[in-house]
Amino acid sequence: MRTFGILALAASLTTTSAQALQGFNYGSIFSNSAPITGGDYERLFNTAKQLTGTSGGFTSARLFTIIQAGTPNSPTEAIAAADATQTKLLLGIFLSSTDEVFNNELTALRSAISQYGQKLVNLVVGISVGSEDLYRISPTGILNKSNPGEGPDAVVRRINAVRQALAGTVLSGTPIGHVDTWTAYVNSSNAAVITACDFIGVDAYPYFQNTQANSIDNGESLFFDAYDATVAVAQGKPVWITETGWPVSGPTENQAVPSTQNAKTYWDRVGCKVFGKVNTFWYTLQDASPDTPSPSFGVVGSTLSNTPLYDLSCPQGSSSSSSSVGSSTPSSEAASSATGASNPPPDRETSATPAPGGPGSNGGSSGSTPVENTVPPTVQTVMTYVTVTTCPVIVTSGSETKTSMTTSTVSVTSTHANTLLTVASPPSGPSPSSTPGACPASLAGDFEFPHLIVPVDKNQPDTALGTSYNGLVSPTVSSLFNFDFPASLAGRTCSLVFLFPTREKLQTSNYTLSGSGGLNFERLPLDQPADSATTFNNQPEANGTVGTIPDLQAGNNYVIGSGICFAGLRVGYKVSATGSLALDYFQDYNPEPIGLYVSVC
Ligand SMILES: *[C@@H]1O[C@H](CO)[C@@H](O)[C@H](O)[C@H]1NC(C)=O
Ligand SMILES: *[C@@H]1O[C@H](CO)[C@@H](O)[C@H](O)[C@H]1NC(C)=O
Ligand SMILES: *[C@@H]1O[C@H](CO)[C@@H](O)[C@H](O)[C@H]1NC(C)=O
Ligand SMILES: *[C@@H]1O[C@H](CO)[C@@H](O)[C@H](O)[C@H]1NC(C)=O
Repeated sequence: MRTFGILALAASLTTTSAQALQGFNYGSIFSNSAPITGGDYERLFNTAKQLTGTSGGFTSARLFTIIQAGTPNSPTEAIAAADATQTKLLLGIFLSSTDEVFNNELTALRSAISQYGQKLVNLVVGISVGSEDLYRISPTGILNKSNPGEGPDAVVRRINAVRQALAGTVLSGTPIGHVDTWTAYVNSSNAAVITACDFIGVDAYPYFQNTQANSIDNGESLFFDAYDATVAVAQGKPVWITETGWPVSGPTENQAVPSTQNAKTYWDRVGCKVFGKVNTFWYTLQDASPDTPSPSFGVVGSTLSNTPLYDLSCPQGSSSSSSSVGSSTPSSEAASSATGASNPPPDRETSATPAPGGPGSNGGSSGSTPVENTVPPTVQTVMTYVTVTTCPVIVTSGSETKTSMTTSTVSVTSTHANTLLTVASPPSGPSPSSTPGACPASLAGDFEFPHLIVPVDKNQPDTALGTSYNGLVSPTVSSLFNFDFPASLAGRTCSLVFLFPTREKLQTSNYTLSGSGGLNFERLPLDQPADSATTFNNQPEANGTVGTIPDLQAGNNYVIGSGICFAGLRVGYKVSATGSLALDYFQDYNPEPIGLYVSVC
């Protein structure tokens, strides 16, 4: 994946001019809801151009709406400010709401064209129709959000409407695109949106990828994996980075710790590799003012200043073509033909809190006020990846054992019941009905998903295979799964469950299954969960069996073991194959969920 990543990035670089756009994202209101005016935009744009430590300055700006806040449909005063400061604009049209709001955007666009005329040709480098709309209709987007989203058909319709509105105007040659999460693009159901675009903008935040080992040390690889997965499905269209960044403050997301030091590391390892090479709109210059949001991504604090919170100068050589990224020169076909990564749809959930520079979301849900409807993209989206999804790696072409399409719940014999947790009541089984003392073998209620999956291979005993999206077991490979049990689970019952639907039921996952046999589930010592450096030889010795599935059959959901939850602890479980079974599945909690979870009741 990393190898491909560099190729894909390099491939896209060859199609991008040496003068790639370098900018920040800008909202339309302050955190106290006051509109950002032309004078404010001028101050912001001038600050971006003169940020201490940066070379060349940040001379581009991405907007989420064309409508000036505080007006029904007048063009944003950011246009005049961009003209005055010679800042390039990626205009945004807000979707995910009513026709009325969309028509107001079109009215603002038409007014801008008649007001500024030819000037716009040099100022406007692109128009994004929508922002994260596809993400918001995905299962996890819906799950935790009231924000409206739009399906691919609706987005395509809007894109075409904007094209039509621009035909015959000074902006008829302006590239039209869409901005969404990388997870939305790799979902093939959304391919028509890519087809309708001249470019696509991708938002990716390793900080929010909290189902993965997402410490700052992995920030670079998570970002480039996301970027490359997008390039791989982009149908050869340019992929612009429309949002990325690392917070300077705020809550820890799994292993991702906000700090100015980590923000600096991310800037160096990601920003400095793409600045000047790929059109990039960093998140962000100033994150919500006057109030600082949590998390906060601003490179300057709530007081606007040319002095950033951390050193923005790039490490020597990092942004030059002497880096591995810049020196590879595959053709642009390399990207489109690199089908290996029709990858990860990690889904994120989005929670909205007001803030001006907000990652271009929303606001316009049914209960919103008229003002919010006219300036919808003024609400900050806080994104949290809630599930890990990637393309299943097909490692075997073995036969699959297919059973009935109906999924049943099976409890399996637990020989050491109290090793899952402290025991509530020892599961007995197998039984088709629910087991006394066990939680449901489903994700219908509260559940925990693993925050880390690490395979270990007897045939590569000293190799740390690192973080995986997949659960992989074979006669030589076992997988270690870490669960982080929140303290709030104190006193509740937890069941370790293994969900294994038939392949036909899976929408976003897949698996390969060969051989026959079962699965063995062991618990790692409480003080020794897995980590990304775990190898076969240095893996913790398991401290007892939780349960076994003697004969794994698709279409079954298994309760492995139950007990009082390990509240407040990170606990590792080891899953191994028995017999000749080899299973490689993509752990995914989207419908239909598959893999190892803890069901809480
Ligand atoms: C994939 O995209 C379709 C269309 O946008 C959406 O309905 C579906 O929920 C998406 N699936 C996932 C897992 O996000
Ligand atoms: C939804 O978001 C809230 C806070 O944003 C979080 O506490 C909760 O766990 C999320 N729900 C799910 C299902 O992840
Ligand atoms: C799932 O994997 C099998 C190979 O194991 C393949 O034949 C099938 O097409 C895959 N399904 C999807 C939807 O990718
Ligand atoms: C190992 O398992 C025993 C019995 O379940 C338990 O009492 C002990 O605390 C465990 N030790 C560790 C390090 O997990």
